[in-house]
Amino acid sequence: IGRVDDVQELQRACVDDVPERYVRDGDDRPGGANVCAHAEIPVIDAGELRRGGGDVDELEKLRRACQEWGFFQVVNHGIDGELLDEMERLSREFFMLPLEEKERYPMAPGGIQGYGHAFVFSEDQKLDWCNMLALGVSPAFIRQPKLWPTTPADFTDTLERYSAEVRALCHRLLEHIAETLGLAPGTFAGMFGDAVQAVRMNFYPPCPRPDLVLGLSSHSDGSAVTVLQQDAARAGLQVLRHGAWVPVHPVPHALVVNLGDSLEVLTNGRYKSVEHRAVTNGEQDRLSIVTFYAPAYDVELGPLPELVADGEACRYRRFKHGEYSRHYVTSKLEGKKTLDFAK
Ligand code: SIN
Ligand code: FE2
Repeated sequence: IGRVDDVQELQRACVDDVPERYVRDGDDRPGGANVCAHAEIPVIDAGELRRGGGDVDELEKLRRACQEWGFFQVVNHGIDGELLDEMERLSREFFMLPLEEKERYPMAPGGIQGYGHAFVFSEDQKLDWCNMLALGVSPAFIRQPKLWPTTPADFTDTLERYSAEVRALCHRLLEHIAETLGLAPGTFAGMFGDAVQAVRMNFYPPCPRPDLVLGLSSHSDGSAVTVLQQDAARAGLQVLRHGAWVPVHPVPHALVVNLGDSLEVLTNGRYKSVEHRAVTNGEQDRLSIVTFYAPAYDVELGPLPELVADGEACRYRRFKHGEYSRHYVTSKLEGKKTLDFAK
């Protein structure tokens, strides 16, 4: 594939019109009839989940959020707001560096780590209005230390601290999610082994034609759970529900959590990995910091027998998570198409 332009550079070149490769076909464009402005993804209080019981049954709220939305925001999640702010500040600082500086950490064509554009495989594919920095965090063998930025100076240390906190949060969330399914809290931790953790920072510059362009194509995540941090004042994430796009309104210091394809498979579709996308904005840029948490590559996935009722068909076959992961990262983002692999 040919070179994909850096969108911050495109934006700086002050084009009033976006290049053809970014212009979506009619029904894939943002705005218009199928955006549902009044619905809101649930907000879950993790403090209540920790305490258990109480007047509001937070666990029941979580169960409904998982079953009906596949998406929720979590507050009182236990991660220090200052650490979130610091990670956001340093990530922004990275994206503001001159292009030559960022290109010291290049994402290889068709690659998934480093600075650049993942999921681009053909010349005729529509492009996303987004620059990315993607890094494998854990286990150690997926790390490519040469791709971890040395500027800003504190970036690496902060990302280490941030990743440890988000990992622990994923762990706690999976315990609660197991409980909502009537499983022992340690079920997923026991299965997942040395879980895979990766982080991707998405930077969306202001776009001259936000009506025609997507920041990130519609997709479901290949993870088990994803934790997303976003700018407090800049919306852009949209979640597909009953055929309409529901915007996620940022709650300061809340984290957005969504279930990924692994959980859809393990629960035999009781919980769904929900399609989402990002739209752009004519005036403001936007940053999101996304952590993907998934089973170790050698873990075999398939519907958990406890979750397949008598007489119910298994909707997914058994396969190694590593095979799925390879399939996912070599496919373009296109709704829930990658999950066909598991059928
Ligand atoms: C993502 O799905 O990876 C990011 C969406 C966003 O930027 O909100
Ligand atoms: Fe995503």
